[in-house]
Amino acid sequence: MSDRYQGFVSTSIGQLFVKNLGLPNPTPLDRWSEGAPLVDGLVVVGGEGRLAEVLPTTLDGLGIASSTTLEEGVRAKALVFDATGVTDTTGLLALQEFFAPLMRRLETCPRVVVLGTPPELTSGSERIAQRALEGFTRSLGKEIGRGGTVQLVYVAPAADGATSSTLAFLLSPKSAYVSGQVVRIGAHGATASGTVDDWSRPLVGKVALVTGASRGIGEEIARVLHRDGATVVGVDVPQAASELQTLMTELDGDHLVLDITAKDAPQRIAHHLREHHGGVDVVVHNAGITRDKKLANMAEDRWSSVIAVNLAAPELITRELLDSGTLNDGGRIIGVASIAGIAGNVGQTNYATSKAGVIGLVESLRDELDRGITVNAVAPGFIITQMTAAVPFATREVGQRLNAMSQGGLPVDVAETIAWFASTGSGAVNGNVVRVCGQMMLGA
Ligand SMILES: NC(=O)c1ccc[n+]([C@@H]2O[C@H](COP(=O)([O-])OP(=O)(O)OC[C@H]3O[C@@H](n4cnc5c(N)ncnc54)[C@H](O)[C@@H]3O)[C@@H](O)[C@H]2O)c1
Repeated sequence: MSDRYQGFVSTSIGQLFVKNLGLPNPTPLDRWSEGAPLVDGLVVVGGEGRLAEVLPTTLDGLGIASSTTLEEGVRAKALVFDATGVTDTTGLLALQEFFAPLMRRLETCPRVVVLGTPPELTSGSERIAQRALEGFTRSLGKEIGRGGTVQLVYVAPAADGATSSTLAFLLSPKSAYVSGQVVRIGAHGATASGTVDDWSRPLVGKVALVTGASRGIGEEIARVLHRDGATVVGVDVPQAASELQTLMTELDGDHLVLDITAKDAPQRIAHHLREHHGGVDVVVHNAGITRDKKLANMAEDRWSSVIAVNLAAPELITRELLDSGTLNDGGRIIGVASIAGIAGNVGQTNYATSKAGVIGLVESLRDELDRGITVNAVAPGFIITQMTAAVPFATREVGQRLNAMSQGGLPVDVAETIAWFASTGSGAVNGNVVRVCGQMMLGA
């Protein structure tokens, strides 16, 4: 399941081919390991808006060193620009003035975050200027190179004090394969961050349900949520029972063997969580299947099975957990969509319908949830798993290179994004669909 092309281009002969033929040259991405600092280097902060004053304190609270200047001969690991003070088009020049001189002074795998105000909460000239920020960050993401990422974070004024968990994620190697994204904090009701005592274990005392947990992305989600302190309850089908049990024993978790499409699955899951764990705090709807065929050749069972596993089950389970009060106060509902649900894909009308429906689930719930419960989803692009290893070589090669990072992502990249949504510090992160796709060209 390794990326053989990336292995080849990292050799000296490979570099010769890259230079002479103009081939993609993927940078090995930094990934976070337990005990490492969130940011290994200096963050340069700029801009003049509502957040500029609190930013150094917020970063300091995360153990991140920041400065408003960069000394001669020193490189920055990350740049954070407060653009909440940009209220008209002339103010946009501040972006060029801050970023242009710093772009050649970045370390590898740099991070850039621009903070703005949700345009829909502003009006007139300010709305136009705030919306313009999206073009800036999406383009910079495509040109930054060397494993860098660029994001736009719109912060509602009522959530100015709730940016820590998002900055911790977006500035650290945890967001290795997330770029060109627009995140909203506090834009859908929830504005309080929630308390985090220990940023290295933000889920201590929490119970997390992960469906499809026995392998692939689900296994990695279970591992990362366990690392962050949660007790994980893994769910998978009877055929995967033994792998599921082995993993959950390793993670000191619990497991439940069932098919999530069974009629009584929502009630059995809710009952198990209440009886054995007193409820649940984090729900990750990861289980998913593909049954690809062009629509003209698609039999009814291919259509129905994909909709049942990927969309109907998450909807029914969520509804049961909410209606029965099994989802605790401050609960986190997290869906797993897909780039296919955003851009569409040949042979995947069933799959793309189900994954666009997962985005619909986020949109339908985000303004109705109460008790501090949030709903968000990830939309993975090309992630290297057993599922994608089965894709024919040529298709796989194209799939892996068609993004700003010229490589596929790893299951841990999806898992880290989910852990950010799950964090007790992410109480104001609600209603987002974040692509984990290395800024894939499709549907961008
Ligand atoms: N791998 C990628 O590139 C990629 C890209 C976009 C989205 N996704 C999504 O990420 C999720 C995980 O994908 P993966 O690559 O790890 O797939 P995978 O096939 O390796 O794992 C899916 C897991 O779900 C379980 N599962 C399937 N049907 C189930 C059911 N009815 N009840 C309970 N469990 C069931 C499977 O047994 C398996 O353990 C899926 O929702 C998938 O659609 C993956």
